[in-house]
Amino acid sequence: KGLKLYDPGYLNTVPVRSAISYIDGDEGILRYRGYPIEELAEKSTFTEVSYLIMYGTLPSESQLAEWEFAISQHSAVPQGVLDIIQSMPHDAHPMGVLVNAMSALSVFHPDANPALRITTIAAAVYLRMAGRPPVLPSNTLPYTENFLYMLDSFGNRSYKPNPRLTRALDIIFILHAEHEMNCSTSAVRHLASSGVDVYTAIAGAVGALYGPLHGGANEAVLKMLSEIGTVQNIPEFIEGVKTRKQKLSGFGHRVYKNYDPRAKVLRKLAEEVFSIVGRDPLIEVAVALEKVALSDEYFIKRKLYPNVDFYSGLIYRAMGFPPEYFTVLFAIPRMAGYLSHWRESLDDPDTKIMRPQQVYVGEWLRDYVPINTRT
Ligand code: CMC
Repeated sequence: KGLKLYDPGYLNTVPVRSAISYIDGDEGILRYRGYPIEELAEKSTFTEVSYLIMYGTLPSESQLAEWEFAISQHSAVPQGVLDIIQSMPHDAHPMGVLVNAMSALSVFHPDANPALRITTIAAAVYLRMAGRPPVLPSNTLPYTENFLYMLDSFGNRSYKPNPRLTRALDIIFILHAEHEMNCSTSAVRHLASSGVDVYTAIAGAVGALYGPLHGGANEAVLKMLSEIGTVQNIPEFIEGVKTRKQKLSGFGHRVYKNYDPRAKVLRKLAEEVFSIVGRDPLIEVAVALEKVALSDEYFIKRKLYPNVDFYSGLIYRAMGFPPEYFTVLFAIPRMAGYLSHWRESLDDPDTKIMRPQQVYVGEWLRDYVPINTRT
């Protein structure tokens, strides 16, 4: 009946072709549409990078202006979605609220152009946590500044976020925008293969991102660093990892068997942010933990290095974000990746409904026993 390979976690299964991003996990290389991530983080902006990811080329000046205009024109969110966000309990996890809000878009706005409405929703989720009413987006401010404006302005039109912190967040958005067939992006493709609408596919992806082995790792890292507390407690923590009591969050990756290039940029960026807002003492714990792990046989043998989530949480915390909100900050830029994989999957004539197979390990054939004679 044909060859079936048992492949838990799809370690060796290649269900799609993609021209969006390229990773060489042994060398620690990541490129979007052929451009090295380090160069984009240094020279580009998130809106330019999202155009690149979605349309395949860097935009001309007029294309970028048009793209930014289109995003700002599509940033409003239906009142019904804002009402759903408002109706959630105050202490609900923001990622749970985000999943609901994204899927609600498919009901309230089923024909919407899949432009990037996520910052308005993410801001409403944040304000809900803080017990504050939603702030409407400005349609004149640049993308990342507009997001911070919605979070911090209390509706005061003349509010200006710190430009260096705005740029730092923009760089973080660039680094998180796309990462080929990670768990949540493959969820988008999986759902899209059934023909469902884009918002439902993206809500499924955001659900996958929520998990602590994926996007939720940034929140888990901060929790772990706070629990370790001081450099003196690192050896005991590492022993616990080696005896499998716990994992070292923010370490290890399915594809990178070398330093994650995004983590390198973030480590430097953390210093830049600390120079603006003050140094977080947990950075000493993070740097020392990394050093101990990178010289320990357990981690060396398994090629475990810091990943994108290891340093990002420290930067978010320094910028004043609560840990439960960190994964929402990952979801915002990843929309660019999700949408371009969704589009690429629709355009690929080879796309088929995703339907993996299984190895059946249950009972073979049994006789039905009437309930009154069962023992
Ligand atoms: N701490 C301790 N041991 C680890 C870790 C870790 N963080 N990661 C992997 N290992 C061990 C694992 O126990 C296994 O050991 P053994 O061969 O003795 O059983 C070996 O390394 C191989 O790991 P694996 O679990 O088979 O690798 P995977 O490719 O299935 O999992 C991973 C990848 C990212 C889920 C895993 O490394 C992990 O759980 N890391 C911590 C969570 C994390 O930081 N996630 C963020 C990933 S990057 C961004 C994103 O996707 O959001």
